[in-house]
Amino acid sequence: MPHPIKEISETENSLSLKELNLMLKKKQKSIPTKFLYDDLGSKLFEDISNTQEYYLTRTEKKILNKNAPSIMNISRAKELLELGSGSSKKTKILILQALKEKNNLTYVSFDISTKALNMSYDELKNISPKLDIKLVKGDFINDLEKVENTINSRLYLFLGSTLGNFNNETAIKFLTNISKKMKKIDFLLLGIDKVKNKEIIKAAYNDKDGITEKFNKNILNVINNEYNLNFQPNNFQHIAEYNEDKNQIEMYLKANSDQKISMLNEEIEINSGDKILTEISRKFSDLGINEIFKKSGLLLEKSFNDEKNYYSLYLLKSNK
Ligand code: SAH
Ligand code: TRP
Repeated sequence: MPHPIKEISETENSLSLKELNLMLKKKQKSIPTKFLYDDLGSKLFEDISNTQEYYLTRTEKKILNKNAPSIMNISRAKELLELGSGSSKKTKILILQALKEKNNLTYVSFDISTKALNMSYDELKNISPKLDIKLVKGDFINDLEKVENTINSRLYLFLGSTLGNFNNETAIKFLTNISKKMKKIDFLLLGIDKVKNKEIIKAAYNDKDGITEKFNKNILNVINNEYNLNFQPNNFQHIAEYNEDKNQIEMYLKANSDQKISMLNEEIEINSGDKILTEISRKFSDLGINEIFKKSGLLLEKSFNDEKNYYSLYLLKSNK
């Protein structure tokens, strides 16, 4: 029997065809990032995280392995709530640490992808009878306030540098929402990729086996299915370039030829060389991220880094 999944989104799809249509007609065309994560996309992301070039996952894992006792000791959480959990492989480290000292623990996996929720359950189901696993399907931008509150101490988790996929305004709005939801005894553990040599960063989004390329192009299959469109993924090229002024990776699909996409009784023209933005991935300095914490009502309790300072975990409290 599959584990039950609680769906908390009110509408099946919060983006209307009209909104997508407008995004594709703007000067900078774009497709919302969340469409990267259907079943195949979630599987491909898992494969990306195992590539040699993608240092983020293994670095975050290393920091967690080293500091799990300290993190769980400070937070004293009876419940872990992870937003955009993916497969929960890294979170398992914290769960195992918490179970050493607790008779029961709740883990809530929150993700937009059913595949991710099922991977997460498979990863954790046999750990311990003391662990209660809950799967919640929703959008962490739109549905956060619908997540049930608890009287238990809760550790919010937002790992994998997913915050870097938001622009500054959205990042602050998102963290402010969490901070408002947090009780005095709650903590937030946030994983953030840091500014470093740009060749190392670029390589992480241009793996030589082309998994990131497949992941990027798959977004077109997802919106084709979702909105009944006629994008041809093979007519596009994967581009991930580093914008040094903004300290961010920008991932695009670049058209190889002129093409027309039928939509809402019109044909959207995409010209050869046009680039559709599918994702940004921001890289932060300590100073920059601290500025965001301040604007979001968060107080830094402790930070944890790897020895090269490639990546940081921040343990935060709400300032209320
Ligand atoms: N935390 C994991 C996965 C990171 S990938 C790790 O560190 O490896 C980002 C995850 O967020 C994916 O599992 C994806 O399905 C999920 N996600 C992306 N957009 C989302 C949204 N709007 N709402 C909820 N989950 C989302
Ligand atoms: N949060 C991840 C990151 O910014 C998401 C991600 C990993 C990603 N690989 C990607 C996004 C490739 C787009 C393309 O690193």
